[in-house]
Amino acid sequence: MTTSNKRPDTVRLQRISKAFWESAALMSAVELGVFTAISQGHNTIDRLAHAIDIEPVNAERLLTALTAMQLLSRQGEHFSNAEDVQRFLVEGEASYAGPWMLFGKPRWEGWGKLTEHLRVRAEDQRLLGMYDETFTVERAREYHQATFSIGMGAARRFHRQVDLSGRQKIMDLGGGSGCYCIVAAQTYADIKAEVLDLPPVVEVTREYLANHEVSERISATACDFTQDPLPNDADVAIMASNLPQYSRDIIAGVVRRVYAALLPGGEFHLIGETLNADGVGPLAPALWGLSEAVSRSTGLAHTTADCEGYFAAAGFEHIEINNFIPQTLTRVSGIKPI
Ligand SMILES: C[S@@+](CC[C@H](N)C(=O)[O-])C[C@H]1O[C@@H](n2cnc3c(N)ncnc32)[C@H](O)[C@@H]1O
Repeated sequence: MTTSNKRPDTVRLQRISKAFWESAALMSAVELGVFTAISQGHNTIDRLAHAIDIEPVNAERLLTALTAMQLLSRQGEHFSNAEDVQRFLVEGEASYAGPWMLFGKPRWEGWGKLTEHLRVRAEDQRLLGMYDETFTVERAREYHQATFSIGMGAARRFHRQVDLSGRQKIMDLGGGSGCYCIVAAQTYADIKAEVLDLPPVVEVTREYLANHEVSERISATACDFTQDPLPNDADVAIMASNLPQYSRDIIAGVVRRVYAALLPGGEFHLIGETLNADGVGPLAPALWGLSEAVSRSTGLAHTTADCEGYFAAAGFEHIEINNFIPQTLTRVSGIKPI
């Protein structure tokens, strides 16, 4: 227990216990197009109410909450978007990330039953967690509209950090929209890539590849990376944003199988929501791990030390832990010796 001279009060506990009210306010604002309307000049309570067709009293309630949350600022009767809101939550902008803000919403009811989910026994957990029979092509399309809305930014960041000049082929495990491979094809004239994902997803991946005119160099293959064979002609492997969905044993097994499949001298980049080595935070990876209880999967938050261990046990060398997205994503990399 930490001690301080200040007598504890309930302020922090009250804020956390009602934090989901804030999530709801943000998601409703995105769904109603509040930030877009404000940027178009519908920036008073009455103008906004008219523009998005809700009662003025509800516009006032929502704008008051969003202002207190510092998503908006208020000058007299006028509201304006905060800088990040203006950049990422105004529809029509290339940087629009509204779908990503709604990504967690399908699990809203599930989080309300977290206590029941936490009582689920090991024998009732599902290997593929949320990717059950309800994960149809339609659902995958909606899901990857959300991942794509921030994935291209992450992929560009990856290719600024990692130089793949001279590499021949990427295998992208759980590649989803294919964003990491699309940016690779845009960056390197000759590189090829194969996106591996679950059967409903690869249909959606192919739509993204076609839209970006990279289908000749990038293919999408149905593959459950926990058990299906991996391509053995790649000298780069990427696995991004699915680390907490699986147990330590499963991830260790995937890392071993990637090592076995990679060409000698090849490199593996595991980008995941990862805890610090001591397991104490950051919060975002910890919550991604907790969300796996809602999916009834085997997943949990892995630490950077766990990941280093999986890479070393598989045989990788030159293992590095790189900060990728502060407080959220870490990039663990290693080289298969020649
Ligand atoms: C959060 S998305 C990340 C997509 C992409 N890597 C990105 O960073 O934008 C996780 C992806 O992993 C895929 N996935 C999860 N488990 C998988 C498995 N066992 N085999 C293949 N793909 C899997 C999901 O279908 C989904 O497309």
